[in-house]
Amino acid sequence: MDESQTIEPQHNNISISIRSLTPADAESYRVVRLRALNEQPPAFGSLPEDEPNLAETATRLIESDERCFFGAFSNQQLVGIVRISRYDATNEKHRAYLAGLYILPSFRRNGCGKLLVKKALSWVANKQNIRRINLTVVTEQEAAIRLYQSFGFRIYGTEQETFLKNGRFWNEHLMTLELPLHCDRINRC
Ligand SMILES: CC(C)(COP(=O)(O)OP(=O)(O)OC[C@H]1O[C@@H](n2cnc3c(N)ncnc32)[C@H](O)[C@@H]1OP(=O)(O)O)[C@@H](O)C(=O)NCCC(=O)NCCS
Repeated sequence: MDESQTIEPQHNNISISIRSLTPADAESYRVVRLRALNEQPPAFGSLPEDEPNLAETATRLIESDERCFFGAFSNQQLVGIVRISRYDATNEKHRAYLAGLYILPSFRRNGCGKLLVKKALSWVANKQNIRRINLTVVTEQEAAIRLYQSFGFRIYGTEQETFLKNGRFWNEHLMTLELPLHCDRINRC
């Protein structure tokens, strides 16, 4: 087994493995990502037609000190994704951003989401000088909000009409997690 991979039995006795994604995962990542962008009600503002093509996706999946994508697998099938990245600006490197968390509907409530967030937080914990993780979440995505809150993320604002999709505007909560808190939480969650 690859050392970066963790395998944990989850609810319903399904076995889930979590590992960082590589360019070789581009095709399966894209399938899951496009499902995510078509989620109803919307979980993401991005539009499927704006998603990078396969070659660009493969390039994005190259892990760096700045960014990593993680995947949850069940029997070799990619069933969940998340990405974590540092902010780009030189004077904002103390912040990271968690985004794109998505589990295929038939694999939900098996602990995959929790495992992916835990892995992303561990990635941050191993980086120098990151003090805070931010994210945005559509106000109607209650499962995701609860999941983030269970790790200690708190809502610090709500942005109105962040994006237009399916003929209406959607609002997003801004959530943040300060790192001294999260170290405790990673171990408890
Ligand atoms: C949010 C999401 C990633 C959760 O994934 P999951 O694998 O089902 O979550 P888990 O089984 O790991 O559950 C972890 C925790 O999340 C919360 N949660 C998950 N599903 C929930 C639901 N339907 N209702 C309420 N809370 C829920 C609970 O706190 C749960 O902990 P518990 O099992 O101890 O109660 C999944 O529902 C999803 O992909 N939703 C659509 C995409 C989305 O909203 N992404 C967030 C973008 S910011």
